[in-house]
Amino acid sequence: MTFKKTILCIGAGYVGGPTMALIAYKCPQYKVTVVDIDPKRIAKWNSDNLPIYEPGLDEIVKATRDRNLFFSTEIEREIKESDIIFVSVNTPTKMFGAGSGMAADLQYWEKTARQIRKYAESHKIIVEKSTLPVKTALAMERILSSAENDIHFEVLSNPEFLAEGTAIKDLEDPDRVLIGSRETPSGLKARDELVEIYANWVPRERIITSNVWSSELSKLVANAFLAQRISSINSITALCEKTDANIMEVARAVGMDSRVGSKFLNASVGFGGSCFKKDILNLVYLCRHYGLDEVADYWEGVVRINDYQKERFILNMLSAMFNTLAGKKICLFGFSYKANTGDTRESPAIFIARRLIEEKAELVITDPKALNNAMIDLNGVDGKISYVEDPYKASANCDAIAVMTEWEIYANLDFEKIYKSMAKPAFIFDGRNILDHKRLYEIGFNVFPIGKPALTHF
Ligand code: UDX
Repeated sequence: MTFKKTILCIGAGYVGGPTMALIAYKCPQYKVTVVDIDPKRIAKWNSDNLPIYEPGLDEIVKATRDRNLFFSTEIEREIKESDIIFVSVNTPTKMFGAGSGMAADLQYWEKTARQIRKYAESHKIIVEKSTLPVKTALAMERILSSAENDIHFEVLSNPEFLAEGTAIKDLEDPDRVLIGSRETPSGLKARDELVEIYANWVPRERIITSNVWSSELSKLVANAFLAQRISSINSITALCEKTDANIMEVARAVGMDSRVGSKFLNASVGFGGSCFKKDILNLVYLCRHYGLDEVADYWEGVVRINDYQKERFILNMLSAMFNTLAGKKICLFGFSYKANTGDTRESPAIFIARRLIEEKAELVITDPKALNNAMIDLNGVDGKISYVEDPYKASANCDAIAVMTEWEIYANLDFEKIYKSMAKPAFIFDGRNILDHKRLYEIGFNVFPIGKPALTHF
């Protein structure tokens, strides 16, 4: 079969995989190939056991794979054959040299640019999908145009706003699609080609365009604003716990102001995920680079409050459990950074687990999807840790349960049965405020929500 266009995506991760699967699903006229340097990852994408869990993803991959969606390791051949190349390689926080702990590590991204330059034999549109520091497209253009041939590469920025756990829904029905291009005739032409792909399923008015730098910056700022909302509400939980206020009531009252809005005001043990911290630190680094220290300090505060919130959770556990956790058995309900994903990157549970081990507690970790990642994250940690899939078995004989992830199953457990199986006095620290606190108290638990007065029997 001949296809109208050949699309390639370099990087088969949480963004590249689902995004390309959806493009293939919505656009049977295009051939879509995803490549990655990791052959094991590609083999998984070609198997029944996909490398990531995402509701609805299995069905879409099944419907399209080997029809117009392909996963391959043949990067050289695929670059040659493609018209449009999405770059979706990871850009973790740099952990060495200048900007260590803050700036983005661009080594994978630059290798990819060099690979494209080396193998390309015809004009191509290059689409930045990875979240990158502002002005990266310019660097990409420079690398690509340094080849000694007359191949033209037009670099577009098309940041991905999908959230994990709702990736397919977010891709199918996005709030907006943002495409940044140069305002030259060839830039605008390339932009229109990308608009045409999305227009296969996204209403035109939701496909917005801008210059390249605005597009790159918008992604960082969107994530900084979202994270700021969580840090704002989390900062108030500390005050609520000292007074008689209840954060759920405060968040409801504040969020009903239509200028504020009700989403992303759920108090928690802290935000996690691969994006928020990384993107804010990138923004902070950028501001410092331009000498804007006040602006940098302002945004850095969002990350500081998040660290404070996690540490506060531990200090609350310590003080509630008579100032010692040594030898106590604590069950973590959930390890992923949020529900409906097995991803644990930057999960607050990692910090909490490490701190509990420092306090010499014994840990039992349960999670419906993230136990394998939890084992990797805590590999080498010196302490007693076990991993148990069944939450009833996991919590048996424990002194306390700490809810780390808002998995729906936890709200619907038989807590009378759990209470009976636990050591007494039994404690619950609800880091997500998903449980029925009054009912737990009536069963006999000592209950410590986030941002609400504790309910204790002593
Ligand atoms: C985020 C952005 O939402 C997405 O647009 C961007 O492309 C990537 O970063 P993601 O990290 O997948 O997506 O998850 P998100 O749903 O935003 O949650 C991030 C963290 O904040 C999670 O740990 C979540 O539990 C926490 N959170 C979220 C809260 O603690 N309270 C809230 O009210 C909302």
